[in-house]
Amino acid sequence: MLKIDNLSLAYGSRIAVDRASLTVGAGECVALVGANGAGKSTLLKAVVGIQKSFGGSIQYEGRDVTGWTPEEAVRGGAILCPEGRHLFPEMSVRDNLLLGATRLTLTKAQISEKLDEIETLFPVVRERWSQLAGTLSGGEQQMVALGRALMSRPKLLILDEPSLGLAPLLVERVFEIVVTIMKSGCAVLIAEQNVQSALGVAHRAYVMEAGRIVKSGPAAKLRTDPALLSAFIGIDEVS
Ligand SMILES: Nc1ncnc2c1ncn2[C@@H]1O[C@H](COP(=O)(O)OP(=O)(O)O)[C@@H](O)[C@H]1O
Ligand SMILES: [Mg+2]
Repeated sequence: MLKIDNLSLAYGSRIAVDRASLTVGAGECVALVGANGAGKSTLLKAVVGIQKSFGGSIQYEGRDVTGWTPEEAVRGGAILCPEGRHLFPEMSVRDNLLLGATRLTLTKAQISEKLDEIETLFPVVRERWSQLAGTLSGGEQQMVALGRALMSRPKLLILDEPSLGLAPLLVERVFEIVVTIMKSGCAVLIAEQNVQSALGVAHRAYVMEAGRIVKSGPAAKLRTDPALLSAFIGIDEVS
């Protein structure tokens, strides 16, 4: 589904991602974990064409998409649900959801079918249909952001810190939704600082530290790996 090979990105002269390689298979859920500033968001933005890389390549569904535009990514079904949700606060929940479908050529019937699906998955959306998005709680906003991403009919859903700032119960709900999305056959790439929850749902995971992928493997195995601790507290493994 996705193959990132030796990808490098920088902000000015400052390297943010250093030769990162990563794959996501069809129907697979892959977690990208690491401390704040490790380069996770930069890497995810690169996948959907928001950040331009200066080295390496990205393949998606078997074709080279390095340097594609965000619009091409959306049309191709590679959808980013960004960190911080980025809803339009002065627009209704419904209009925010509809924005997810704007770059696609869907019929009215297809849009309404998709909205129905999202209502079923997120009852809160149904209750708050015409409410301004900016007046929702953080958890409700995250549900709308996830719903908007699903409106784009993703084949690869990329989630950047979906549980950030949410109360424990809502964190659980977010991960339940991730599992539901996976079960529908959509591949998922998820960056999280909530490591144990992310590793609980993912098949495989990559640990990122200071712009580099320092470890990868089956999620269940990485859960107890000392490399995880080191990536978060920034020191070498203590024996
Ligand atoms: N817009 C930006 N301009 C300059 N530097 C940035 C920008 N966004 C992120 N960075 C820097 O790039 C590095 C990686 O950041 P980021 O990808 O956001 O990491 P993470 O998502 O893992 O917290 C950090 O050192 C951060 O300060
Ligand atoms: Mg980030």
